[in-house]
Amino acid sequence: MTTPEPAVVTTRDQLAARSLPLLQRAAAGGRRLSVPSLPSLGLVPTMGALHEGHEALAAAAAAENDVVVATIFVNPLQFGDTADLERYPRTLDADVELLGRCGVDLVFAPPYEEVYPQGPPLVSISSGALGDKLEGASRPGHFDGALTVVAKLLHLCAPASTVHGPTAYRAYFGQKDAQQLALVRRMAADLNFDATIVGVPIVRSDDGLALSSRNRFLDTAERQAALTLSSALHTLSRQAAANEPLQVDEVADLVQAHPLVELDYLEVVNSHTLEPLGVNCRHTPFTGHALAMIAAKVGPVRLIDNMELSGGHDGATWEHGGATG
Ligand code: PAF
Repeated sequence: MTTPEPAVVTTRDQLAARSLPLLQRAAAGGRRLSVPSLPSLGLVPTMGALHEGHEALAAAAAAENDVVVATIFVNPLQFGDTADLERYPRTLDADVELLGRCGVDLVFAPPYEEVYPQGPPLVSISSGALGDKLEGASRPGHFDGALTVVAKLLHLCAPASTVHGPTAYRAYFGQKDAQQLALVRRMAADLNFDATIVGVPIVRSDDGLALSSRNRFLDTAERQAALTLSSALHTLSRQAAANEPLQVDEVADLVQAHPLVELDYLEVVNSHTLEPLGVNCRHTPFTGHALAMIAAKVGPVRLIDNMELSGGHDGATWEHGGATG
């Protein structure tokens, strides 16, 4: 009798050698994971350098699915700047260990050639107007690259239907990357992907900083300065909950006043379309729901954060509303 392969491989060598074969061995008919009578599969795409935010993704996937696959792939297509790509932290062994603890059954950490066997793809996903604004305005091409690899990973890890019917397929993304989440949802809907896209709430440290793989690059003073982002969002959230007009410009000025912070944007948007709400929320009592999004450079590190805003008495919703002025 042969010993079954460990579901999660635990060393760099094993992963490098065995990731795609492991994925394929579990496959029936090519590249599709197929476990007889498998009712559900959760996919957690990551670029590694994992932290408690990723733990929350894996835990959510493990709670809702019979099998959980996590991917670790630092995708060059979504980095405009080679220096940024090279600087991106690689912590594979620790990542695999963390995923194992969180109930992930299989880690897929392919080398570049397995994802892009012919080099950068000739045909790829365009993120359209939704990908050009906010983060996309500062990082041209970023979302095209991110969506292209997400599309590929969704295909590579997709479960096959079983005799019991189609396997439920869910993919998990953090709400911290709100624009990425909105775009992945849009891609899945526009291109008929057979996966449910699940957004998982932001995980924050005790002092409010949203967890990010980039936080490790902040020194002590910068980390303290980074708290201006979450505190700006909290201020807007309190104003929204009290049905006050949102003091977006004043809050932005406070952020910008910090010597270590270079504000890129602070916007209040519709949480699905990411369209700005216009000026009305600033001059009339806030009602309904919206999303406040912020991005800033803190020292050398670009950080993003966001928070849902909810009016105390849910009346007309600005996110559907058309009022301006
Ligand atoms: O959010 C990320 O870590 C990446 O953009 C993703 C979704 C894994 C695609 O490379």
